[in-house]
Amino acid sequence: MSITIKDEAGIAGMRLAGRLASELLDYLTPHIRPGVTTNEIDRLAEEHTQHVLQAISAPLNYAPAGHKPYPKSICTSINHQVCHGIPNDKPLKKGDIVNVDVTVIKDGWHGDSSRMFEVGETSVAAKRLCRLTYEAMWRGIVMVRDGAHLGDIGHAIQTFAEGQGLSVVREFCGHGIGRKFHEDPQILHYGRPGTLERLQAGMTITIEPMLNTGKRDIKESGDGWTIVTRDRSLSAQWEHTVLVTPTGYEVLTLSAGSPPIPDFVHA
Ligand code: MF3
Ligand code: CO
Ligand code: CO
Repeated sequence: MSITIKDEAGIAGMRLAGRLASELLDYLTPHIRPGVTTNEIDRLAEEHTQHVLQAISAPLNYAPAGHKPYPKSICTSINHQVCHGIPNDKPLKKGDIVNVDVTVIKDGWHGDSSRMFEVGETSVAAKRLCRLTYEAMWRGIVMVRDGAHLGDIGHAIQTFAEGQGLSVVREFCGHGIGRKFHEDPQILHYGRPGTLERLQAGMTITIEPMLNTGKRDIKESGDGWTIVTRDRSLSAQWEHTVLVTPTGYEVLTLSAGSPPIPDFVHA
């Protein structure tokens, strides 16, 4: 597969898909509380995507090479789960942190975003991980512009995360996105400035760092999808879909309920 550059029509399609993905997260937000099961959140997501957004859930039956089809409409990754957690009938409990990752297809275009949610009161360490992972994502986003190197994004995220004593998961990365869910290039969340390919205006990519409080090592949990930290330390992830512009970037997965953008972004 190769990199795709979106024309004005493609950018319009990506803007709409991105906004709808973010609005789906807004809709789910009040439901993410102690006692709710991740299957219930999944059901609400599927219903809202179909009937309100009039869109399609990209994860449902998604089957990349080497994987069985993904069985649900969203991913819900709790505590030491890094990504691709499969919704189930276990209720969320006070103190959990959960990543909800949604991808909608609207008019053939994909919008991909995830946020962290704190269930009831959470530990100081959990709150800090969620906050710093959000900042790490934005440290990567602000590097995006025509001509920047992919290594610039990875380096910004890695130096920030490691400087805070957090580790960066290496096995999963951001990606190009468009008419396909996962397109080239891969967007690594670690690296060296000035290395790897250059971004070009009209590319749409995701930035979705996964940071752990313990070691970076991960393993697959046995259900064919869910990834967990090897040392069972907490893991967090945030994700935006971003358009590369001639002078910078445009974040496509924003909506009324998006969390505030960090101050350093405007400085
Ligand atoms: N949304 C994930 C990403 O950010 C991919 C999930 S694939 C699934 O790339 F099959 F697990 F849904
Ligand atoms: Co993604
Ligand atoms: Co995603």
